[in-house]
Amino acid sequence: ELKIGVLISGSGSNLQSILDACACGKIAGRVVCVISNKADAFGLERAKKAGIPALHLDHRAYSGREAYDEALVASLREFGVELVVLAGFMRIITQVLLDAFPMRVMNIHPALLPAFPGLHAQRQALDYGAKVAGCTVHFVDCGCDTGPIIIQAAVSVIEGDTEDTLSARIQKEEHRIYPEAIRLFSEGALKVDGRVVTVRA
Ligand code: GAR
Repeated sequence: ELKIGVLISGSGSNLQSILDACACGKIAGRVVCVISNKADAFGLERAKKAGIPALHLDHRAYSGREAYDEALVASLREFGVELVVLAGFMRIITQVLLDAFPMRVMNIHPALLPAFPGLHAQRQALDYGAKVAGCTVHFVDCGCDTGPIIIQAAVSVIEGDTEDTLSARIQKEEHRIYPEAIRLFSEGALKVDGRVVTVRA
């Protein structure tokens, strides 16, 4: 049973989809801790409701990104975490976390990478005039939203879309593909060869 640690900064709707997938046995694992850098992240309430340790680790209390990541690693290790899942965690992570969990950190990004990395991806897609948008689950490497892609899902951009309507359409897909990517990982079905991730049958 895979021990999953989830890092969040906000609502935690992706966290919820993962909790649900674990509860119904879809993922051969369980979430052993949820850590937020924001005290008021609603995702912390979701974790508590599910009886899962919910920690607030304030990045402002540390001297820099590395020092913060050392604290994250210490907490994740304490809970025996084997896979780190970034679910709306709005912090840039460092080599400190990556070295502690090599090819064991996943992220979800609300765009079809490599298009529109970084902040406000949905707004970037609208401003660019893209007709197709979507989301990407990927392993995290040292770049910003650059790691090996595990699953992507596309959605249409519809005339009159706002950032909110497009984000909602993308999130529906996020809630499907993130648990699916974690399920595949939990079954040892993901093979990474350089940039390319393949799924073993
Ligand atoms: C998700 O849409 C995720 O793709 C995005 O934050 C949202 C978190 O929602 N992540 C990023 O933008 C990362 N750069 P949630 O808290 O409801 O899961």
